[in-house]
Amino acid sequence: MKGKQYFIIDFDSTFTKVEALDILAEISLKDDQNKNEGIQKIKDATDKAMAGDLSFRESLTERIKVLKAHRDHLTELIEKLSKQVSKSFHRNGEFISKYKDNIYIVSNGFKDFIVPIVEKYGIHAENVYANEFKYGSSGQIIGFDDDNLLSKNDGKPNQIRKLNLEGEVFVLGDGYTDYEIKKAGLAHKFYAFTENVRRESVLAEADHEAPSLDDFLFSQNLERAHSYPKNRIKVLLLEGIHTHGFEKLKSEEYKVETKPSALTEEELCEAIKGVSILGIRSKTQVTAKVLENANRLLSIGAFCIGTNQIDLEKCLEKGVAVFNAPFSNTRSVVELAIAEIIMLMRNLPDRIMKMHNGIWDKSASGSSEIRGKMLGIVGYGNIGSQLSIIAESLGMQVQFYDIEEKLALGNAKSANSLNDLLATSDIVSLHVDGRASNKWLLDESQFEQMKDGVVLLNLSRGHVVNIDALKKFIDNGKVHGASVDVFPYEPLTNEEPFESPLKGSRNTILTPHVGGSTAEAQVNIADFVPGKIIDYINTGSTSNSVNFPNLTLPILKEAHRFIHIHENHPGILAEINNILADHGINIVGEYLKTNEKIGYVITDIDKNYQDDVIKDLKMINGTIRFRVLY
Ligand code: NAI
Repeated sequence: MKGKQYFIIDFDSTFTKVEALDILAEISLKDDQNKNEGIQKIKDATDKAMAGDLSFRESLTERIKVLKAHRDHLTELIEKLSKQVSKSFHRNGEFISKYKDNIYIVSNGFKDFIVPIVEKYGIHAENVYANEFKYGSSGQIIGFDDDNLLSKNDGKPNQIRKLNLEGEVFVLGDGYTDYEIKKAGLAHKFYAFTENVRRESVLAEADHEAPSLDDFLFSQNLERAHSYPKNRIKVLLLEGIHTHGFEKLKSEEYKVETKPSALTEEELCEAIKGVSILGIRSKTQVTAKVLENANRLLSIGAFCIGTNQIDLEKCLEKGVAVFNAPFSNTRSVVELAIAEIIMLMRNLPDRIMKMHNGIWDKSASGSSEIRGKMLGIVGYGNIGSQLSIIAESLGMQVQFYDIEEKLALGNAKSANSLNDLLATSDIVSLHVDGRASNKWLLDESQFEQMKDGVVLLNLSRGHVVNIDALKKFIDNGKVHGASVDVFPYEPLTNEEPFESPLKGSRNTILTPHVGGSTAEAQVNIADFVPGKIIDYINTGSTSNSVNFPNLTLPILKEAHRFIHIHENHPGILAEINNILADHGINIVGEYLKTNEKIGYVITDIDKNYQDDVIKDLKMINGTIRFRVLY
């Protein structure tokens, strides 16, 4: 049992995100000609005092003089400040109300606006030590109570001394005057609070940094809103991931670092240490060796579609959940496919080339509308099915072939076989996935079955089409036109030359794997992947994970969530439940899913339990990882 603990908390830039007098200046000087100059003077005086460069009293006198404020302005000020309470104070209302008798707000600000704000969180008005305004006869603010200790230099230590606190005293604040309490020997620990501002001169004197109230509460093992402070979750984003992704993760309060390019295996082995979330695109290789060095890694976000660059098996063994963006660029691929179908049906690639060579060849030969033509889609997944809808809306007929049973959208029809589809389609568009068995899905014999004058599109994977066979059938005229965006071998960098037998072929569009490369897709990816990761960190939800069993979990309310990841042996669920029963724990909800390698068990329980249950759960043979969430 801990002895008595007291919490001395600063108000401006700590309890609230802002300096109240700066906000008051914006209100009181709203219509003043020299408004900006006045606001700047007040900010400068505040900063100088906070950094210890100007005596507090001089700074206060200066600020009140410039303010020209009135009692009536305070209503608007209080309204504004209530919306500016620091996020981590706001969410930790439970801690504040539980410890209200031991919390003191000690501020060089003014009770006139502090009390109404902190009282809403349960803090006693008599526990607020701050200055008081002096008002003139018509309500204008003309000064401050000179006798108040907090209006004088060394006000905070002198005030705390008078309180005569017996127990452990913690001070949380962003300014030098907060440190002065510790300096005077009146506090055990001074935590420099940096959620809103970071003053190096104050940090230099602090015992610890508190990037949030959660972090302080975590360090003292006190009741808190989050089981683990988000500012301690380190994120590393590589390969110049779109800034949208950075912002989304940053707004979760994670500590995010970005790098513009990929790292080598060796560099990544070093950089990954201490990282909880890694964000990559297609160039970073997350090998078994990298994962061995990943001592805190919870999740990897592949800000792209493919995940071949990640050792998914090893990720499972280490309990690292991997997410990607499987349909963030679906629409982009579909739009390009539509454009290419029209281009090829009009023989445009050849016509464009001729124009560039100075040849005017006006004729309708080899040009058709797409209206009424039969589009055969091979692979009716995300892209194939979306293409189906848009092609139909342009007046095409659609049939598709998929190895899995698929719902036919709109008027599309499911073909009986690939051969049937090939034999009856005017245009064939490939949208299968990259599984190895899809190698040369279209080879000579498939081309032979196609209609004469067929148009072929491959925006799926390079190995799906035998390029030599395609070349042969373009050359002999069976294939009227082709679009190829993906190749069996693709240059690794933009500097490497592109080689293919298809270069220079008739009515053929060759593109450098840009089907999904649009500004919109980049934003979608940068939004989708962090969304999945944040969900996983906050709730344990694994929906759309590439390697974890997919579980979509309800939001946690009034309960704690135990997340147990283990090797998939029989009997582990029973073991978890026995341990919970032995500790007399009331289970509110339980969710389980397994794949061939791991089991994922989520148990929501009543908040009141003894911590030793956690130790027992971690001891279960085969446990890969255990997390508590709330
Ligand atoms: P998806 O996984 O949603 O759909 C693939 C579909 O193909 C599934 O329904 C599957 O059952 C089916 N399939 C697999 N093998 C088949 C076969 N032999 N015959 C018939 N159906 C088969 O994938 P999504 O998102 O639609 O992507 C499709 C392809 O497009 C993938 O290969 C992907 O890598 C590629 N892609 C290319 C891009 C580019 O920039 N060109 C961008 C995005 C995706």
